[in-house]
Order: sequence, then C-alpha cells, then structure tokens
Amino acid sequence: MHPFHVKQAPLIETQITVPGDKSISHRAILFSSLTNGRCEITNFLPGEDCRATIGAMRALGVEIEEVDATTIVVHGRRGKFSPPTQEIDCGNSGTTMRLLSGLLAAQPFESKLTGDPSLSKRPMGRVITPLSQMGATISANGEKKLPPLSIKGGNLHGIDYPMPVASAQVKSAILLAGLFASGKTTVTEPAPCRDHTERMLRYFLVPLRSEGNTVSIHGGAHLESRDFAVPGDISSAAFWMVAAAAQPDSQLFIRNVGLNPTRSGIISVLVRMGAFIRESVENPTQAEPSGSLEIKGCPLVATRIEGKEIPNVIDELPILAVAAALAEGTTVIADAAELRVKETDRLAALATNLRAMGVTVRENPDGMEIDGGSELKGAKLSSFGDHRIAMAFAIAGLFAKGETIITDTDCVATSYPSFPETLAAIMKKPSAFGKSFRR
Ligand code: S3P
Repeated sequence: MHPFHVKQAPLIETQITVPGDKSISHRAILFSSLTNGRCEITNFLPGEDCRATIGAMRALGVEIEEVDATTIVVHGRRGKFSPPTQEIDCGNSGTTMRLLSGLLAAQPFESKLTGDPSLSKRPMGRVITPLSQMGATISANGEKKLPPLSIKGGNLHGIDYPMPVASAQVKSAILLAGLFASGKTTVTEPAPCRDHTERMLRYFLVPLRSEGNTVSIHGGAHLESRDFAVPGDISSAAFWMVAAAAQPDSQLFIRNVGLNPTRSGIISVLVRMGAFIRESVENPTQAEPSGSLEIKGCPLVATRIEGKEIPNVIDELPILAVAAALAEGTTVIADAAELRVKETDRLAALATNLRAMGVTVRENPDGMEIDGGSELKGAKLSSFGDHRIAMAFAIAGLFAKGETIITDTDCVATSYPSFPETLAAIMKKPSAFGKSFRR
C-alpha cells in the first residue's frame, strides 16, 4: 500500500457503513468450526487478521467456503480437529494466537503457532499460565513467554481463574478450553472486557453463567450450527466518528455498526468531550446489538479516560488521543499500560507522532497527558507497523495545516482494507463519498 498523503478535509456531511467487526469475525469462524454443521457468516471482515483465523482453522481440517469477499460458509467439525501438518501462522493477529491457544490446549495432538515480527514480541504468558493450570503443556520463548507457542493439548480440567489483566482474549481462550475441560471453568475479570465470546457461545446454545465480572462454563456442551451476521466494526467507525465530532458543523451517519455496550465506550467519551451523538440500537434481541450512529461536530473539550473505562475503549485510544489533541485543554489517559503490548507500543508511537505534529505530550508508564487545542501541523509520520496508529494519524492529518504523510501503511489491511478509499472520498468532497443525509 502507498503512503497516505493527507490534506485538510472539507466538512463531513455524509453517511457510511464500515466493514464487519474484527473481533466478532474471528469468533464467528472459530465457534462455527466447533458446531455440528453448516454456518453461513455474512458481513465477515475480509481483513488479514481474520484471514489468518480462516487459514488456521483450515490447517486443522475445517472446510471453509468463501462465497464472496464477505460471505463465508464454515462446516463445523463438532469440536474435533485434525493435527496440523505444519506450523500455523497467525500473522499479525493476537486474537488468532490467543484464542486458538485455548482451542488447541484441548486437542489431543501437538501444534505450533507462529506470528509476524510484531506478534512475536507480544506476551503469551497471560494465556499460557491458565491453560497450563488446566492441564495443557505449552512452551514459548524465554522469560517473557513470546511466540512461537508449542502446544500439547488434551485432558483438561476446569479451573477458577481470577485474571490479572483485563483481557477479552485471555477470557476467551480460557472459556474455549473450558468447553472441553472436565467440570466447571470460572473466569473473573478485573474490569469488564468485550463479551463477544459469551454472546456467541450463548447464540450457539451453550449454557453459561455470568454474575458480575465472573463467567462460568461446564465442559462437554455441544454447539448447534446457525448462521451469523457480523455487524460493522465500531473500532473502524471510530476513525470517522472523531473526524466528524471534532469538526464543528460536520454531520455523519453510520449505519449497521455494532453497539455492544462492552465496545461502545467511545460514544460516552466523545459525548463527554462535547460531541453530539445519537445512538439507535435497531436489533436489541440479536446476539450482538447493532444500529446506527449520528454524529454532529462541536468544539471539543479535554477529558480523563481511565480505570474501568479503559478496556471498553482499548482499541480506540489511538484515535481518542488524536481527538484529545484537537480538544481544548489537557486530556489525561491513565491505567492504559496495556497499550504498550499491542501491535506496537502505542503510547510511545502516539507520543512520537503527536509531538511531530506540534502537540505537547507528557508520556507516563500507563498513559499520557495531551495538551490539546493548538493547530496541528502536517508531518511525515510512521505507522510503526500498527494499523490503528496509521489510521489515527490519517485522521489527524485531516485537521493539520500542510500535508501529512503516513508511511508503512500495509498494516491497515489487517483490520480495515477499504480505509484508503474512504479516506480519499472524505478528502475529495462529501458528494463523492455517498449521499448526503441532510434534507
Ligand atoms: C480483542 C481484545 C482486545 C483488543 C483486540 C481484540 C478480542 O485485546 O485490543 O484488538 O477480539 O478479544 P485484549 O483482550 O488483549 O485486551
């Protein structure tokens, strides 16, 4: 992918949809592979991360048909897979590696999971510890327990596990393993994390018990095959939400976007910062609530983002840091040390790029303080190989004086392959981008 060349944007007055949700697309492939039959998945995200999950499940013998770019048919194998004939490459995808570890910990064969250079630096001890307690044998590199992972699975027993880090990936890996373990498996999270795994297990008719931040599963349940429609990804919508929210008089309407309350924290943060956002959930009874968002731009003001709100906006913090740079006052992001172990060290990447655009930033071990409100200046910035850094700074460029160039943008294909087209359309004029919804 070419570098992004971004210039100041005109007012946004349009409506859009965004591609399918990444977290839900991964789970749709994984969980339908566990069912007893055919599952059609629509609005699947054809990004590289989710393609890594397709490749992994095929390597385990699952038949997966690609009807078109976003429609996938999975033929479930009732939880019994074939030993892979070679290493399984998870690419850049932490979700693939961590969730798959839970599944493979339960399979009576050996497997090896590898990843790209970024994934090879991400900590896996957080899944190795609970899965080993359940009875799996997993080895990784060095004290930091880095990929590749070698997994020898089978004969698991349930555990009661209080998670030291708030991580939906860890929770999901344990629940996946718990599905195959003897007895009951219980996980408690320190703060509520996205609950797509719980919702999908229930959708496939697996009984779960949830109480507060604790969820339990009994081993031996069977998943019933059903079709699944993936809603649009609010983490992809987040870039355009900020682009509209920070531009007074802009109006943006986003249709068919996931509005799961464990993912929609960005709405409350932007409202707190002064944006007008109307949320309408159109299918509250579905496994995953979705609907539309209407955003009107206003002058933004600073806020604090910390504590239990962090897991709910974990993937939106890069674009919220850009919103903070555009808001009057000092925004504080705290309790977000997890950002240091994402696709790159996102706190360091944000501080470097914001400073290059002329913003005063104080970086802390678990967050940052951003002095917003002064004019951004265009700059040449790296994505640090991280899709969300690339896209967040493309949006910053829409507000900067002079041209902003983002290099190393191939990574955007991991979660939002059509981002460059939408960006180009936004930079042209609203009518080229879709129909104006202002009547
Ligand atoms: C994800 C959970 C989050 C998130 C990641 C996707 C998931 O990671 O950052 O992009 O699909 O479960 P953690 O669970 O490690 O916080």
